[in-house]
Amino acid sequence: MQDSLSALAWLVEAGADEAIGEVAVDRFAAKANPPLEGGSKSAQQISGRGPAPRPIPTLPQGEGGDPIGDALALARAATNLAELKAALERFDGCALKKSATNTVFADGNPQSRVLFIGEAPGRDEDRQGLPFVGRAGKLLDKMLAAIGLDRTSAYITNVLNWRPPDNREPSPEEAAMALPFLRRHIELVDPLVMILLGGTSVRHVMGRSDGIMKTRGRWQDYNVGGRMVPVMPTLHPAYLLRQPAHKKLAWRDLQAVEQKIAAARAGKP
Ligand code: URA
Repeated sequence: MQDSLSALAWLVEAGADEAIGEVAVDRFAAKANPPLEGGSKSAQQISGRGPAPRPIPTLPQGEGGDPIGDALALARAATNLAELKAALERFDGCALKKSATNTVFADGNPQSRVLFIGEAPGRDEDRQGLPFVGRAGKLLDKMLAAIGLDRTSAYITNVLNWRPPDNREPSPEEAAMALPFLRRHIELVDPLVMILLGGTSVRHVMGRSDGIMKTRGRWQDYNVGGRMVPVMPTLHPAYLLRQPAHKKLAWRDLQAVEQKIAAARAGKP
């Protein structure tokens, strides 16, 4: 009941205040749908409840050598999400890790193959070790609910796995060390649809430096092993908390995402 009220409040705030279809869509029935076809990863693989990950190859680290090379080698060696998480937890090449409480890997269901990528953990995420659990995360949950998703039917991670002190923007070096892990993360999830939350995410994932107001709402492609994955850049929920008038833009983007997921489920391009 609380979920449906929050979703309704989000829709009204976003300007979706009139009925379009003849028949109401039962979002909660939609939730009961099985995850999207074709995914091979299990939530157990990341929660640590599944089979124990293979030992991660040992690499010399912290010797002022080649942390980006180490990140690449460790990420490449991970054959599933549990191994990638273990690799990140033992990687010492990024200074952000030293001031962070937790490595924030991901939340949600990787088998959904609907991948949301934010920027970096904040204070609450650093404490709890999970992405998007603070105020922006609560808004993200409402955004998900508005298109029939939740953390059992979507998967959420960040460009950075460690909180930058004072929530500052990551430096280019910090991002460079995080990117091999993020790229491998995307490959292992093998998403059908990807949603980038905010300009920092678009910049690092797509290598585009034009502002989020230019990129949002327009589908782009990301190459995963030769397959082009549709990517929707949209506004970050933290930005929407500051600029609620722009929720209607995010709502438009999310409607396009909902349609794309439906098409992917139906096996249409
Ligand atoms: N903002 C993000 O981009 N990611 C989080 O996990 C939390 C806030």
